[in-house]
Amino acid sequence: MADISSRKVDHLDLATSGDVGFRSTSTLFECVRLVHDSLPEIDVGAIDRSVRVFGKVLRAPLFVAGMTGGTDRAERINRELASIAEERGYAFGVGSQRAMLKRPDARATYEIRSVAPTALVFANIGGVQAAAIDTDAVRALVDQIGADALCVHLNPAQEIVQPEGDRDFRGVLDALGRLSRELSVPVVAKETGCGIGASAARRLAEVGVRHVDVSGAGGTSWVAVETARATGGLRDVGETFREWGIPTAASLLAVTGVGFRTVLASGGIASGLDVAKAIALGATAAGMARPALQALETGGRAGALAFFDRLEAELTTAMLLTGSRTTDELRRAPRVLVGELAAWKAGA
Ligand code: FNR
Repeated sequence: MADISSRKVDHLDLATSGDVGFRSTSTLFECVRLVHDSLPEIDVGAIDRSVRVFGKVLRAPLFVAGMTGGTDRAERINRELASIAEERGYAFGVGSQRAMLKRPDARATYEIRSVAPTALVFANIGGVQAAAIDTDAVRALVDQIGADALCVHLNPAQEIVQPEGDRDFRGVLDALGRLSRELSVPVVAKETGCGIGASAARRLAEVGVRHVDVSGAGGTSWVAVETARATGGLRDVGETFREWGIPTAASLLAVTGVGFRTVLASGGIASGLDVAKAIALGATAAGMARPALQALETGGRAGALAFFDRLEAELTTAMLLTGSRTTDELRRAPRVLVGELAAWKAGA
């Protein structure tokens, strides 16, 4: 049975250079058309892209979605991306803190407050782990890294294809309800690339979950990541389910109207136009995992900064061309849903 550290190394290697993207499944953001405004009457320099999330103001509605921790390489990646988040006014999420439960000394690899003293920071733990430990143990994970909120990740598709993965998914919903009640920080139910559907969204809301990150399909396929690590029959199962999941745009449609206070969008966000579309579908902010990692690992800090520059320039362009001075106006921007997304809207 591979230990957590070697699994994390596999994950970073595969996410950086492996063939782990969805192939035929897209986010369906291409089915969202924002309506062009020929008369924006806006000074681009006055466009305000800021949003308020969990009591903090982000200068742009962007976050780095939780990825890693527990190894030296993870520590470097966390610090680099967190310091960029601090500099740019984005939010930043650490990866699963499960390693801290087993090895308290792993805490240093998640320690990002020294480089990101004011950024909005998300702690992270798996739903199955959250169900197995008491609230105090989860609170300690949040407190030990000085996080502002906790993401509880849901990843049954990944686990079922992972050779050493969890097989019992009972108790996760109750744990999310308990943590939402008992923790003083906001609790975000976060998928990991398969999206949250309408039924899951309703059940989350019923137990008192107020915040979600839909993390839908169309970007990184975690089934593909685990399939690359699996052998024998599991590999076959992985190949069959590689494209499984609810496209990110469809998941956003499914969760809005359920009454969440905060909807975050990740999963295949590839441009600032995707960010704008996510906001027009009801998200407050949009996050990237693998694209941010790849930009950093292939281009260093300069490469990551250039990636975020492009995203911000595209977002500003989308705001101008929809006549949106603020992110609130962008949220109300007219949009047309076409093709497969319209079918998801009817069916999900
Ligand atoms: C992830 N993701 C993730 N999510 C989570 O909640 N806890 C975790 O520990 C991890 N680990 C992790 C490692 C790496 C290397 C990547 C690339 C991603 C999932 C991530 O937050 C996100 O939900 C999905 O990857 C979809 O977003 P992208 O990659 O399509 O932008």
